[in-house]
Amino acid sequence: MARSALLNVMVQAAIKAGKSLGRDFGEVQNLQVSVKGPGDFVSNADRKAEKIVKDELLKARPTYGFLGEESEEIKGTDGAHRWIVDPLDGTTNFLHGIPMFAVSIALERNNEIVAGVVFNPATDELYTAERGGGAFLNDRRLRVGARRVLSDSVIACGVPHLGRGNHGKFLVELRHVMGEVAGIRRMGAASLDLAYVAAGRFDGYWETALSAWDIAAGILLIREAGGYVSDWEGGSSILETGSVVAGNEYIQKALLEVAKRPIPAR
Ligand code: IPD
Ligand code: CA
Ligand code: CA
Ligand code: CA
Repeated sequence: MARSALLNVMVQAAIKAGKSLGRDFGEVQNLQVSVKGPGDFVSNADRKAEKIVKDELLKARPTYGFLGEESEEIKGTDGAHRWIVDPLDGTTNFLHGIPMFAVSIALERNNEIVAGVVFNPATDELYTAERGGGAFLNDRRLRVGARRVLSDSVIACGVPHLGRGNHGKFLVELRHVMGEVAGIRRMGAASLDLAYVAAGRFDGYWETALSAWDIAAGILLIREAGGYVSDWEGGSSILETGSVVAGNEYIQKALLEVAKRPIPAR
């Protein structure tokens, strides 16, 4: 597996930030935790990790734009390129000592995601993809799962934060999907949900009310692993709408159809 120089920069940034998160993991009593909104936490672990990633990326490409969850967006003079970064995806897991969190870094060129890295420092799993070059977990090439029917499939989802997203709508989606599938999972880190679909661990995944930094890298992982990702309408406005439906060509289509069934009349 040959990585481009740019992907190497992204990998180094993710590993460096991951080491910082690894040092803070399990040290919640020493972190300054604050609340951004209902059920939405942040701590100095997130901010330290973001600074590390930002410094590394902008040192390598000072003219690129930078969109990160925990700092002001930098527009960049380049115009064509933008980094999209979640320094700690799965903050709630992280603060609860659950080793299911990741650094997520994507590179966008002319509004298309061309490279992505998702790194879980707790499991040492590094997911990488470049457009046209395939997706990898560490050195192993990834391929989405081969199951063709929902009744054989394990499907991941996300529960909207308190006060964000529409809980009533989510419950209807869940009711439809859980009636058709072999199992449902909720891991709490959107970037890893997508990476697990790319790795064939999950057969599909859907979630709404996400932000670009949660999903930008994971979308490319799935596409490069031969999978399909769309927004809630089946279109490609995933980053703009924050809604995502993913799987192989059969499961993605089936999930989109089932999750969108109308609310049953009482
Ligand atoms: C969250 C996670 C979670 C998803 C939330 C996101 P954060 O990101 O990806 O799985 O359900 O909507 O906000 O805040 O932990 O970076
Ligand atoms: Ca957050
Ligand atoms: Ca996130
Ligand atoms: Ca985050």
